[in-house]
Amino acid sequence: MKGLILSGGKGTRLYPLTYTRAKQLIPVANKPVLVRVIESIRDAGVTDIGIVVGDTAQEIKDVLNSRTDLGVNLTYIPQDRPAGLAHAVKISREFIGDERFVMFLGDNVIEGGITSLIQDFATNDWNSQIVLKEVPIAEAKSYGVAVLNPDGSVNQLIEKPPQPPSNLALVGIYMFDHHVFEAVDSIQPSKRNELEITDAIQWLIDNEYRVYPHVHQGWWIDTGKHVDMLQANDYVLDEIEPSVSADAIIENSELDRRVSVEAGAQIINSVIRGPSIIGSNAVIKDTYIGPYTSIYHGVEIEGCEIEHSIILENSKVKNLDMRLQDSLIGRDAEVGSDQIGKPRALKLYLGDYSKVWVPK
Ligand code: TTP
Repeated sequence: MKGLILSGGKGTRLYPLTYTRAKQLIPVANKPVLVRVIESIRDAGVTDIGIVVGDTAQEIKDVLNSRTDLGVNLTYIPQDRPAGLAHAVKISREFIGDERFVMFLGDNVIEGGITSLIQDFATNDWNSQIVLKEVPIAEAKSYGVAVLNPDGSVNQLIEKPPQPPSNLALVGIYMFDHHVFEAVDSIQPSKRNELEITDAIQWLIDNEYRVYPHVHQGWWIDTGKHVDMLQANDYVLDEIEPSVSADAIIENSELDRRVSVEAGAQIINSVIRGPSIIGSNAVIKDTYIGPYTSIYHGVEIEGCEIEHSIILENSKVKNLDMRLQDSLIGRDAEVGSDQIGKPRALKLYLGDYSKVWVPK
């Protein structure tokens, strides 16, 4: 069995963060989503993994090359434009050969790993298995949904149906045998000019290949939008085993037991409530950090209250006179006040597609 992770795409819904960074590298609880995806595939016993990469290939390679601890063999498969998930399968033919494989979207996070799922597929002679999740019927119209046959196999897949015939949404994990390559060679691009994976799976069904579902019971998040990123951060922070590095400096501060602190972080005169994580070499001074907050490495925070937020590496947040919450702040950003007092004015240097909310 091989693994295939899709890590190309544009990430337009995560602008401005994804102007300068691959969306799969944005960390959730201080670990890039892509690294979490690789670990779940590896933990299921699959170590030969292909990664489809687009414009952000170099950044992805730089990060993964520095992670020799992952214990996997990675092969990069360049995609010249984001021409669809089925196109990504098509260009991976040589890497996959005739093996069965699991395909995982590089921006998805799922509870509990995929070991049982992979065992299920490895011990059956199905041609494909797709992961589904029950969602409220009112929300099903935003997903690809599956309709099942009485024998439990998949009968039909419909992309974003205005009137959903089922509440079983497609999660970004799929398993295939080599027949999927016939499918991706047979389908035509959709209206948005992409080769759609739903069309490829429907082609398998229509050509008498056996496609079965696996209904996932835990949480699953597609981190496509800012709010999803914060939600994934909440779930993962709830799951991780907290630990405080022996070489963190903690002075005159109060931390509850669900707080993780990484190497070299300094926490001075502050209160930290978990679940939350403070990254390596971060400096937190005279600050309150509330639950569900991830502070990445090298961040400096002074004189602030921050809750339910993600702050990325080397940013500085200082002297805010109101709480920062539900926020996602990129790398090397600066947020603060100069404390001069008058005039009380907002001063902003923001990139394209930035968003700022100021209470009246
Ligand atoms: P999407 O979220 O569907 O697309 P996107 O990354 O372009 O994002 P947006 O809609 O915000 O512009 O992609 C799901 C995953 O699959 C993501 O990790 C990117 C990857 N992908 C590819 O590798 N190749 C492709 O051709 C496409 C469409 C996506």
